[in-house]
Amino acid sequence: MCVQLDEREVPDNPFRPEMFRIIRRYPLTHDVNFYQARPADTDNAMFDYKPGQFVMMSVMGEGEAPFCISSTPSRPGMLEFCIRKMGTVTSTLFGLKENQTIGVRGPYGNGFPMDKMDGKDIMIVAGGMGAAPLRSLLLNVLDNRDKFGRLIYLHGAKAPGEMLFLDEFMQLRDRDDLDLLMSVDKDDTGKWPLKTGVVTTLFKDLGPIDAKNTYAAVCGPPIMYKFVMQEVVKLGIPKHQILMTLERRMKCGVGKCGHCAIEYLYTCIDGPVFSWWDVLRMKELIGRGASDQNIA
Ligand SMILES: Cc1cc2nc3c(=O)[nH]c(=O)nc-3n(C[C@H](O)[C@H](O)[C@H](O)COP(=O)(O)OP(=O)(O)OC[C@H]3O[C@@H](n4cnc5c(N)ncnc54)[C@H](O)[C@@H]3O)c2cc1C
Ligand code: FES
Repeated sequence: MCVQLDEREVPDNPFRPEMFRIIRRYPLTHDVNFYQARPADTDNAMFDYKPGQFVMMSVMGEGEAPFCISSTPSRPGMLEFCIRKMGTVTSTLFGLKENQTIGVRGPYGNGFPMDKMDGKDIMIVAGGMGAAPLRSLLLNVLDNRDKFGRLIYLHGAKAPGEMLFLDEFMQLRDRDDLDLLMSVDKDDTGKWPLKTGVVTTLFKDLGPIDAKNTYAAVCGPPIMYKFVMQEVVKLGIPKHQILMTLERRMKCGVGKCGHCAIEYLYTCIDGPVFSWWDVLRMKELIGRGASDQNIA
């Protein structure tokens, strides 16, 4: 039987992006730009999201790539992103100016389990670009400060000029409800006022930790995980309370294409936030086997 056009159900297209307008853009480092964007059609509702989730961002004629959301849902009205110039899509995004539009679909991924983290002490450890997703968590905890216990934020970068959100984090150091410690691997300016050394050197300054009551969230370059995990595990934080946000090449973002599959998990829907417990079972998650690293 011939189906009438008006009787057909037109399913929502999960790949159709919403258009967002860039309302602010400025450099964070020589190859990372910061963006604030909001729906181009102001009648469109902003989507709700959780810290740790990501979006697929597109530029007409260039393609699409995943980016985590650096803003917090507790400050609605706009989304914030950090974009590092890497290749085709990121170079085009990097060159976009205020008032230009981008396509955004999402939010995708599991995000941090904020309900389970409620009432707990929170330790955040960011290396380099890892500050992009972890800033969302940090700002969210700060905006809901009475719901959490002690808040620690450790941030490492190669050099002062590579430190994302340097001015913002320097100001946050004045708060007495946050222990924010920063280090650079090498001070090439001779003016860095804080610690020099890899991010793990900051663990010495933490004082006593209530490990069983703490959730740790870690994001950074693959090499950083090995050394940070050794420290976090030494503190005695339970494996399921150690969380890390991981990157894989992605295409669809919604569990259809298989590009991000690791054994039976899809990073785009089962992650990008995984626990240390997941990593120990799924050795490919952070490249080398966890047992090879002797930090189980
Ligand atoms: C969940 C998630 C969140 C992300 N969040 C951010 C973010 O907040 N900010 C940001 O700048 N980037 C982020 N990325 C990485 C970003 O998606 C890639 O840099 C981007 O896809 C590169 O696209 P391109 O077209 O510019 O590069 P291409 O032209 O495709 O590639 C350029 C080079 O980068 C390498 N490359 C591309 N993608 C990746 C990848 N995912 N991992 C390792 N190497 C890669 C390629 O092998 C190639 O050498 C995230 C990735 C994921 C999966
Ligand atoms: S990106 Fe397509 S399945 Fe994950």
